[in-house]
Parts: sequence; C-alpha cells; structure tokens
Amino acid sequence: MDRIRIVGGNQLSGTIPISGAKNAALPLMIASLLTSQTLTLENVPHLADVEQLIRILGNHGVDYSVNGKRGHQNGVGGYSRTINFTAANIVDTTAPYELVSKMRASFWVVGPLLARMGVAKVSLPGGCAIGTRPVDLFIDGLQKLGAEIDVDTGYVVASAKNRLRGDRYVFPKVSVGATHVLMMAATLARGETVLENAAREPEVVNLADCLIAMGATIHGAGTSTITIQGVDELTGADVRVIPDRIETGTYAMAVAMTGGDVLLEGAQPDLLQAALDVIGRTGAEITPTNAGIRVRRNGAGITPVDVTTEPFPGFPTDLQAQFMGLMTMSKGKSRITETIFENRFMHVQELARLGAHITLSGQTAIVEGVGKLKGAPVMATDLRASVSLVIAGLAAEGETMVNRVYHLDRGFERLEEKLSGCGAVIERISG
Ligand code: UD1
Repeated sequence: MDRIRIVGGNQLSGTIPISGAKNAALPLMIASLLTSQTLTLENVPHLADVEQLIRILGNHGVDYSVNGKRGHQNGVGGYSRTINFTAANIVDTTAPYELVSKMRASFWVVGPLLARMGVAKVSLPGGCAIGTRPVDLFIDGLQKLGAEIDVDTGYVVASAKNRLRGDRYVFPKVSVGATHVLMMAATLARGETVLENAAREPEVVNLADCLIAMGATIHGAGTSTITIQGVDELTGADVRVIPDRIETGTYAMAVAMTGGDVLLEGAQPDLLQAALDVIGRTGAEITPTNAGIRVRRNGAGITPVDVTTEPFPGFPTDLQAQFMGLMTMSKGKSRITETIFENRFMHVQELARLGAHITLSGQTAIVEGVGKLKGAPVMATDLRASVSLVIAGLAAEGETMVNRVYHLDRGFERLEEKLSGCGAVIERISG
C-alpha cells in the first residue's frame, strides 16, 4: 500500500493549479444516464472516484472517450480532461454491491435510471466511514414523485412504471446527494416538482446548469427552493466542471499553516467565501486576483478562530479536518463544532500523534494551539482527514509518514506534485 513521506518545515511558495471539483464531476457524469445523446464534460479531474464511477456507468452501458480517445485511458490528459459520456442504450439497470460499496455517490444513479428506464436496483452505498449516512431522504423523495420502493437484501429496488410525476417535496434535512438525485429524477417526470429546503451547494448549481443545457427546465438552483418542469427527453450538452472549492480551501490552509505565498490558480472565491473569511481571520492574507486566489502568511502567528460546519454557504464539513490541523498551531484555544456528520473526528487522534492538543466534547473539538508540531507516522482514515494529516506534516518539524493514502487518491489530483512544485518535501513511496 502506498505511503506519503513528508519532511516538514518548508514554507510554500509558487502556483498551485486547482482541479475540477470531484463533487461536481460525479453528479454531472451520472446525469449522462438521462439522455441517449453525448454529454461532454470539460475539466474532469483524474481521481480514483472518477475512474470508479466510469466503471459503474460502463456497467449500465455508458460509452466514454477521454480527450477524444476511446477505451481505458487511465492517466490521460494532464490536469483537466474532457470526457464524452454516451448512454445510447442502458443495458443494465442494476448497480451491484461490488461497485457501489466503494463509493457512496454511485448510489445516485438511482435517480436517472428510474426516471429514464422506469426501474432501478441499486445497492445500498459504502464510501467514507464518517457516520451512518442513511438513504432515507432519497427513498422518501422518490416515493413522493410516485416511485414504488422496496429495500431488499441490501438493495433499493425502485420502479415507476408510468413515469415519475412531479410533486412538492420538503427535505427534512439538507442533503446534497438527495438534492442532486431528486433534481435529476424530476427533469423527466410528468409535470412540476418543487424541492424545498434543497441544498444550495455550488455543485448543485453546476448540475442544474448542466441539466438546463441538456434541455431541462429548472429554476432556483442555488436557493433553497428549486422548481423543475418535467420534459419528455433530454439531449446532449457540453458542460464545464467547476473548480474544486475543497481543494482550494485545503491548499489555502496549508499556506496559512506553513507560511509562504501561493497563487491558487483557477480558484473561485465565491465558492468558499465562508472558509476564506475564516482563514483570513487566522492571520493569512487572502487576495482574489484575475488568475485565482493568492494566499500569503509571513511571520505573523496563527490566531485561533472558532468554527461550526454548516451546509453551504456556511463553513464546509469537508474542510473541518484541515482547519483543525491549522488550529493545532494557533496561539490559543479554538472550538470546532461538526454539525453535518457524526463521527467525523477520526483525524483527532492522528493529529495528536504529531503533538496536537485536542479534546472532544460531543460534536465539538477543543483545540489548544501548540507552538510547533513534530513529525510522526500517522494513518489516513477518510478522504478529508487524510489531507489534514498531509498539511499538518508539511508544517511539522521532521518526518511524517502518512499510511493508507488510497483515501487521498480518491479526492486530490496529483497532490505530491502540486505541493512539491511549491517547495514542499513530499514523496510517494509505492508498495
Ligand atoms: C456530499 C459530499 C461530501 C460532503 C457532504 C456534505 C459528494 C460526492 N459528497 O455528500 O463530500 O461532506 O455532501 O457537504 O458530493 N442524510 C440523511 N439521509 C439521507 C441522506 C443524507 O440523514 O438520505 C444525512 C447525512 O447522514 C448527513 C447529512 O444528511 O448527516 C448531509 O449529508 P449529504 O449532504 O447527503 O452528504 P452527501 O451528499 O453524501
């Protein structure tokens, strides 16, 4: 199993290109199931989760080509790939356990399959071990649109023989995935669907823009009420994946932690304003430029800031672990409260191995800043937790060895290359 070795202590300086967002690319790829025509996606990151979803879509009959080349093109295409997806014929409406268990988002195929084919059998999902992550909202919402659903031997079996029909659904809790799925399903339903208390994340807007380009009628994406008028069929389109706001925030926090001066090229400040405001309050200088976002911290100590995770536009849960890494080196005490997922503090004990002082009280972590961290062997647990260990390792004195890095490969494109390009001592050790 690969490991990442870091020798900490260097400031970061230079340019880091920001990749297309994993969390936007995945639902856009799944939207290709809604039409027999070709959906072209630009700026698709090269990540394990994207490759896994390509396999899952292939199982349903989706053809694809990467940068104009057909077949298995792993590794093709630099930082930003253009991938054509064509679901001319859906050959299988079952998404099996072996495939879905590796990545939670693959469960989302249930929406388009049901809407286009009238049936779907999808395994209950797997993914990061960050809480129970049920699928009750997907089931409730699809039932509201007229689907019949059974949960049988680990599978959600859904049917809508006479097409889904529009209705009003109020999400009891904000869910990004359930918003994606109901929005996709409603595009091909009969009549009007109104989704209330919908997720407002930029990835939902990217998906809505894609569906609109495919011929859907959708209003209000990015607000908590989304209205969809069903149409008979959708067409192909050409859509660009938005820049990754979690990757952006992660590297901004890395610079805030190590010090230095980095341009996050292609980053878009409005996608993560709440997080940028917080990073600014810790003492780093954040400057939006034409090319992206410039992050600087020179000399000044790190000021503690309290943070509570919230759905967009609040501070994202996917930056919580990284922010905790930053706070371990602050000049005082900070409180970090997680409200989206239970059990998303697995990085706490690993950060402690680097010398951090953190105590947990329910869903709040109290971080006592220490002057410096010291390198140690640590274990990556989930995707975002893993990268918090990497950035802490960059700031720690001496060597940090991050084990089980396959989590990182799910969500961070060319991490070592991007960081070593800015002066970090970081390398992958294979095997
Ligand atoms: C997405 C992101 C993930 C991010 C999360 C929250 C992708 C691929 N993943 O995950 O990186 O951390 O949004 O911003 O985009 N819930 C239920 N029942 C359901 C569905 C969700 O109770 O049927 C709960 C979840 O357990 C969680 C909360 O709702 O407590 C929010 O989860 P959700 O927004 O659905 O997360 P994902 O879409 O899985």
